[in-house]
Amino acid sequence: MSKEKNKGEELMNKIVSLCKRRGFIFPGSEIYGGLANSWDYGPLGVELKNNVKQGWWKKFVQERSDMVGLDAALIMNTKTWEASGHLENFSDPLVECKKCNKRFRPDEEGMETVGGSTTIKTVRDDASCPSCGATRGEGGFGDSIKQFNLMLKTFLGPAEESANVAYFRPETAQGIFVNFKNVLDTTRKKLPFGIGQIGKAFRNEITPGNFIFRTREFEQMEIEYFIEELGWEKQFEMWRKEMVEWMSDCGINTKTEVEEVDIPDGERAHYSKKTIDFEYKFPFGQKELYGLAYRTDYDLTQHSKHSGEELVYTDADGKKFIPHVIEPSLGVDRTVLAVLCSAYNEEKAPTADGKEEERVVMKFPHWLAPIKITILPLSKKEILSKYAREIYQNLKKDFICEYDETQSIGKRYRRQDEIGTPYCVTVDFDSLEDNEVTIRDRDTMKQERIAVVELEKYFKNKFN
Ligand code: GAP
Repeated sequence: MSKEKNKGEELMNKIVSLCKRRGFIFPGSEIYGGLANSWDYGPLGVELKNNVKQGWWKKFVQERSDMVGLDAALIMNTKTWEASGHLENFSDPLVECKKCNKRFRPDEEGMETVGGSTTIKTVRDDASCPSCGATRGEGGFGDSIKQFNLMLKTFLGPAEESANVAYFRPETAQGIFVNFKNVLDTTRKKLPFGIGQIGKAFRNEITPGNFIFRTREFEQMEIEYFIEELGWEKQFEMWRKEMVEWMSDCGINTKTEVEEVDIPDGERAHYSKKTIDFEYKFPFGQKELYGLAYRTDYDLTQHSKHSGEELVYTDADGKKFIPHVIEPSLGVDRTVLAVLCSAYNEEKAPTADGKEEERVVMKFPHWLAPIKITILPLSKKEILSKYAREIYQNLKKDFICEYDETQSIGKRYRRQDEIGTPYCVTVDFDSLEDNEVTIRDRDTMKQERIAVVELEKYFKNKFN
């Protein structure tokens, strides 16, 4: 294993372990031995994830006059998936090693293939199994690469028969397209305008893994932005910039941690005329974080044909046409993972006795931090904790706060650093006399004394 890969794996293990230890993300169904590649968000994880979703919704839906929101059902009429092309085309290439029976995506394993990635039929003669090493000659891979459909199937009602087959949506986008007419009729929006939606999506992935990077159940934040065909490039560029700004807001360094990759012909999704992937340098390699696609009028045209409904827009001159679409598509869980990776820092910190120790600090942007302020009384004595609790109760009205009186103050600071709390308020016996407390800044570790009556104003300033 290369040194770089080793380092990446070590860092990833540290992040996964911090997430479990501090209550961000737990292995799914753990008491039953887990369920491979399923994860549950713990008390801090759900706050972080909700902050991501609320921040996205505020920035892209509530603060824009050209956007509205939607929350569509995640099991839809099966005709949706016939029309969208997902039943036919939504697949990944799959090879199975006949020797160890493991399954792989040849495009992901760096197996050179014959033809472009959507047209590949065979792996090259010299390809060997990434798991057991068997070559084709040794009975590893057979001659053909199958296309494996990623739609997750279920049955509605008591009878498991073909008439009752239904699919969990593999993208939130189609809920938006099938509601295009409803939204247009009720909001009377003018082009260009967009519909945003946050919700779960499901894919029967061949190779889930890398913590919450690729799972079979995940959440998306998607926008379908309806435009006129002429000038689509300008709208595409506008959304590219918006996505870069969003990543910056999330504490991601878009210059050093992200690369924009123009997806070439033959490798884009079946509906796309242009796609940019924003790839993030995760500890396990550079991989897709988000996608931005020009879906043309493909989806509305398909749904018009299959449903018989006219999914058209009428402009000021009375001209009717099917709008084109730009789609910024963001994964919620991948955002959380990138935020965790970007925020993770190891550095030296001074101890109470003047020495130095290693500290792990999650430098979340303030708006994303699950806990904003923690109140730490220096002693558990009733007289001090009563005073500290009062401060806690007051601040709790405006900020998500924690109260912690266990262990030494040094250990408590370390814990708050690890969960990324921007400010700690330490209450000591002097506070009872001078009505002042010590505020410690997570990033600079600087401390300052502030009057208790000033706290609310002080933090409102800091968090604005
Ligand atoms: N509507 C377009 C669409 O779904 P996509 O590139 O297949 O495009 C969009 O998915 C985003 O959804 C990805 O960039 C990623 O952030 C997230 N995503 C896709 N599959 C995922 C999975 N299996 N697990 C977690 N996130 C996933």
